[in-house]
Amino acid sequence: MKDRYGREIDYLRISLTDLCNLRCIYCMPPEGISKLQRKEILTFEEIIEIVTAAASLGITKLRLTGGEPLVRRGVTELIRALRAIPGIRELTLTTNGLLLPEMAQDLKAAGLSRVNISLDTLNAEKYSRITRLGTLDQALNGIRAAQQAGLSPIKINTVLLGGINDDEIPALVDLTREHSVELRFIELMPIGCVVPFGPEAYIPASTVLERVPALQPLENARSGVAQLYALPNAPGRVGLISPLSCSFCSECNRIRLTADGYLKPCLHSDKEILLRGKHGDALTEALKAGICAKPQAHSTLSANERSDAGRNMNEIGG
Ligand code: GTP
Ligand code: 5AD
Ligand code: SF4
Repeated sequence: MKDRYGREIDYLRISLTDLCNLRCIYCMPPEGISKLQRKEILTFEEIIEIVTAAASLGITKLRLTGGEPLVRRGVTELIRALRAIPGIRELTLTTNGLLLPEMAQDLKAAGLSRVNISLDTLNAEKYSRITRLGTLDQALNGIRAAQQAGLSPIKINTVLLGGINDDEIPALVDLTREHSVELRFIELMPIGCVVPFGPEAYIPASTVLERVPALQPLENARSGVAQLYALPNAPGRVGLISPLSCSFCSECNRIRLTADGYLKPCLHSDKEILLRGKHGDALTEALKAGICAKPQAHSTLSANERSDAGRNMNEIGG
């Protein structure tokens, strides 16, 4: 279905839990935060009912997010059920990858199309500093497991952290010389109650082009929120995701479902519509209202202008 600004909304991101097995410094405070009680979390039956209604309005693509979606028990069965809903053509998942070694094959068999995996550094000490709880080896094993299971094309998400990982931009881009992955650099978004970063941490994604001048824009240059580039003759590609320097709101095709059952028309707005408890026509009408409530664009974000998301990133799932 089209929203008020003529954008075709066909992509639903579903946060399955606010829990995570990591505590990334740009996403969660060190002690973690679990505000949601178990009974507040949508059941699989409720998620399936909402997705069925959303599919009838033209949603064709689903992405499961968190927190960390793979820590939600039974996720493989949920994937099997969601995949069977008429109209759903693509079912994807964003993960930190740590649980992929034991889960990737089953996820693929259940009908998961592909995965996006977070990897902010190739340095073991820095990985532990950024994620607070994980090891680089665990993440790399997860990426390998996804490749072996055929959960491809794999996209790697790297949040640009000025003064922390920007020195690794060339090394990260080099991964695309050998692997056919899409390595995406994401501008740090000032969202939720995380560690306050200084202005030096917010570096524009265009820094990647300055540090690696050999990157060439691709002909079909846009893929969702990412602007695409590649090194000459490299099998992989590089995506730049620039929510701060260059908003992609005019092409936004997505809505979000929070783990506690609210529809979030825009990542950076605190406007939410309760879906939980609604059924049949009332549910469809609430979904339509959510799509119509999508703002034209979000307010400016910068080191001093925080997101109006109203929740922490781990409660929205990106
Ligand atoms: P693809 O389906 O592979 O294109 O995935 P995706 O880019 O939609 O999903 P992913 O979960 O990998 O998100 C990548 C980054 O983009 C994360 O940092 C998200 O927070 C960010 N992102 C996704 N959607 C939006 C959005 O609507 N607005 C903003 N500002 N950022 C977004
Ligand atoms: N800014 C930018 N990206 C973020 N992510 C989490 N928090 C932030 C933030 N503050 C990314 C994660 C993950 C994706 C879902 O969102 O790295 O890849
Ligand atoms: Fe967990 Fe992803 Fe947040 Fe890191 S960014 S703490 S992996 S939800």
